[in-house]
Amino acid sequence: MPLPTVDLRPYFVPLVEMEGVLDWKAIFGNDHPVEMDIGCGRGKFLCDSTLAHPETNWLGAELDYTEARRAATRLAKRSLPNGRVIGGDAHELLSKRVEPHSVAAAHVYFPDPWWKRKHHKRRLFTDEFADLLARVVKHGGFVHSWTDVGEYFEVISSLMNHHAEFTPQEPPPEPAGANDLDYLTNYHRRGRRAGSNIWRGLWQRR
Ligand SMILES: C[S@@+](CC[C@H](N)C(=O)[O-])C[C@H]1O[C@@H](n2cnc3c(N)ncnc32)[C@H](O)[C@@H]1O
Repeated sequence: MPLPTVDLRPYFVPLVEMEGVLDWKAIFGNDHPVEMDIGCGRGKFLCDSTLAHPETNWLGAELDYTEARRAATRLAKRSLPNGRVIGGDAHELLSKRVEPHSVAAAHVYFPDPWWKRKHHKRRLFTDEFADLLARVVKHGGFVHSWTDVGEYFEVISSLMNHHAEFTPQEPPPEPAGANDLDYLTNYHRRGRRAGSNIWRGLWQRR
């Protein structure tokens, strides 16, 4: 018999169980800036950031509920009031459920590469997605994106560098990798261990 699923509310909530446009104050209990980790996976960056920056609210968005629940478990174990995970599709979230210009920064780390050319249309980062980022990020806010797939980074940077609403900026330095926890995300660690180059991008919303 399958084990009963632990209720991780309020740390994990499926988007389908939320109504209307998200109210950050109702979710986090304050008006602090909100940063989103889109495709947060199992939540290393989300949890580290939530701990390091209590003055900011951190929202993970993750399609895969198993990964989303792992990320939420990390937050729940530490009873972090400023971190939450929503399970669902980032397109739905960014196009309809997030208030326009209500997000201080969006982080998109190591989006699935979908290596085969015939699968490229499944990639998260498309011109439509860049428009959705422009929709939700505040004027003066930021989009961070890293990947270990050079060809995908060319696509991402071309979309963002040429987008009318974004200006490219110098990205923050990469962690030195001094120890096994000195990585931004799980996929960053994986890429570094494989000896891959890591491409980093930062864009500011006009
Ligand atoms: C390669 S993993 C990277 C996870 C994490 N950012 C990291 O760097 O370790 C990409 C993640 O994006 C999630 N994802 C893909 N498409 C998504 C979408 N449309 N909405 C939300 N999450 C998505 C996947 O389920 C997966 O967990």
